[in-house]
Amino acid sequence: MQSSEPAKALPYNDPAHWDRMVAAYEAQSQPFTTLFADAAVATLPIDPSSRVIDVATGTGAAALAAARTGAQVTAIDFSAGMVARVRAHGAANIEARQMDGQALDLPDAAFDAAVSVFGVMLFPDWRAGLCEMARVTRPGGSAAIAVWKSADGAAVHLLLSQIIRRLYPDNVTPMPCTGLAELADPGRLAAALVAAGFSDPAIAEVTHDFKLNVANPGDVDRLFEFMPHWSGLDAEQSAAVARAFRSEIERGRVGDSFAIPSTALIATARRA
Ligand SMILES: C[S@@+](CC[C@H](N)C(=O)[O-])C[C@H]1O[C@@H](n2cnc3c(N)ncnc32)[C@H](O)[C@@H]1O
Repeated sequence: MQSSEPAKALPYNDPAHWDRMVAAYEAQSQPFTTLFADAAVATLPIDPSSRVIDVATGTGAAALAAARTGAQVTAIDFSAGMVARVRAHGAANIEARQMDGQALDLPDAAFDAAVSVFGVMLFPDWRAGLCEMARVTRPGGSAAIAVWKSADGAAVHLLLSQIIRRLYPDNVTPMPCTGLAELADPGRLAAALVAAGFSDPAIAEVTHDFKLNVANPGDVDRLFEFMPHWSGLDAEQSAAVARAFRSEIERGRVGDSFAIPSTALIATARRA
């Protein structure tokens, strides 16, 4: 990592991080994010005549859901690896392009609908991400944006934060994405959409279990690799959190699976 560049300091804001994550993301995260992507896309009034953009498509959860309606989909992501994965799906009505969601290289009003699922909330300039979604959506068009309802995110991030808050309430390092924290509040999410150029925002809550595979204890340890929550803890505290995490899993696991309920806010709005 180029640590001298502040914009690259967070793994989430480094395309190379996501390039390395493609296979793991598709195997572990996409089955979970697909549940929310399907719900977000289902709110959009789209059909085979529609042009749809999926911003921060990842391995393509929302793009694939939109493409199943027959719509013509443009899927963008700043990670070349993610874009290559979406192209490899071979869907004739999905065009995947490498692009920064904060500065889309696309004309105004080019789409009937825009969707972003757990994408824009990660951008350093998430306001620019929302404004860009509005700019490329035609007046009267629709948008659906999914964010986590907790500033701690979801799944393993959420569970770890809960454990750290319980054990070391003064040592919690907030998730370092300002958009994640800001947009986790329904009122602020609605206001941000209006400020970006959308109207009539409506927010729904959707909850699904993240099913953590706990068959292999080594895999569970590797989950900690990218957790920003550790930075405020010393070695002894980190070990205590890891122990609490493992014993919570042992208490709650059903076979090789441990469920972590995670709630998203799905905002829908119209392009003003
Ligand atoms: C949590 S994943 C979500 C992927 C997908 N939408 C889903 O729901 O499974 C976040 C995605 O945002 C992408 N991303 C992060 N910052 C970005 C930016 N500035 N522009 C475009 N994509 C970005 C990452 O490459 C990654 O694929």
